[in-house]
Amino acid sequence: MLDIFNEIRDDLQAVEDELAKVVRHENPLLNETSSHLLNAGGKRLRPAFALLSGKFYNYQLKSVLPLAVALELIHMATLVHDDVVDSALTRRGKPTVKAKWGNRISMHTGDLLFAKSLLMISKYEDKPLVSKVLSKTSVKMCEGEIQQISSAYKSDQSIKDYLYRVQRKTALLIAASCQLGAVVCGAPREIYMRLRRYGYQIGIAFQVIDDILDMTADQVKLGKPIGGDLRQGIITLPVIFALKNSSNRELLVKLVEKRDKTEEEVRKAIELIRDCGGIKYSNNVVDRYINKAKKELENLPDIPAKRILVKIADFVKYRSF
Ligand code: IPE
Ligand code: IPE
Ligand code: MG
Ligand code: MG
Repeated sequence: MLDIFNEIRDDLQAVEDELAKVVRHENPLLNETSSHLLNAGGKRLRPAFALLSGKFYNYQLKSVLPLAVALELIHMATLVHDDVVDSALTRRGKPTVKAKWGNRISMHTGDLLFAKSLLMISKYEDKPLVSKVLSKTSVKMCEGEIQQISSAYKSDQSIKDYLYRVQRKTALLIAASCQLGAVVCGAPREIYMRLRRYGYQIGIAFQVIDDILDMTADQVKLGKPIGGDLRQGIITLPVIFALKNSSNRELLVKLVEKRDKTEEEVRKAIELIRDCGGIKYSNNVVDRYINKAKKELENLPDIPAKRILVKIADFVKYRSF
């Protein structure tokens, strides 16, 4: 568990226990595949956001627990599918479901995790906003992933195209986590919308950092492959900046658009991106979103959970995994 979550350790442990129970399945293969990613670890950021947001109103663990579990299940379902699409062989430091069992099994494992999230969501019959927000978010996540596939290897993309994807792939689920944690505890709109906006800004920053780490991180620490985005032709913010500003633009366009890049070509592309300031620029963009996120918190009551949300904002910025 991340150190910043110490103050909610017991409740996060309850989420963990419930997740383990929920992914258990009588079919031995489905049991193994659907618990595989859960057992591999992960930061549990989305459940933590839900718990912390719940603290801004009438917090009760039993009100937030099914939501926290549902959020991690949706997240894991998208990861299992994403690793098929991205041909990724490691995740959370372990082989992906794709690597161990192949695409067909991954498809159903992802679907199973998603279906189990629906079971959790069905517990909020009296709070229709939960299913409304989570279904809208899931639709948007698919749009983001599809747009990513359609725009692969295309070097003529704008920052707007990039933000369209990042918002859908990542920011909206984090926004929903922050919003709904407060919703299920009965918080008024003014509070949950503020938390939603905090989550949205954090979510954008989180994905921009993920995209930076894809070029700069220590692979072992990160627990997933480096350079994967470039290899898959995914054009992220540092690349978009570099395609405009690199003095060696022609070579970079060629490298970015090339399929089946060699290790040397990936390394060269990262060098060009870094040398013209693409990483630095992207880090500045992250700073802006982190600051906006913190600003949203200013008018919320000064409770311990608020301090942790501020700490998470800083963690997102300085994380190395
Ligand atoms: C990975 O999310 C996918 C992105 C949205 C970048 P996390 O970095 O939260 O993954 P885990 O849950 O810790 O493995
Ligand atoms: C996030 O994008 C994917 C999802 C939200 C499913 P990435 O493709 O960058 O995530 P990682 O890097 O594989 O974790
Ligand atoms: Mg991926
Ligand atoms: Mg990534």
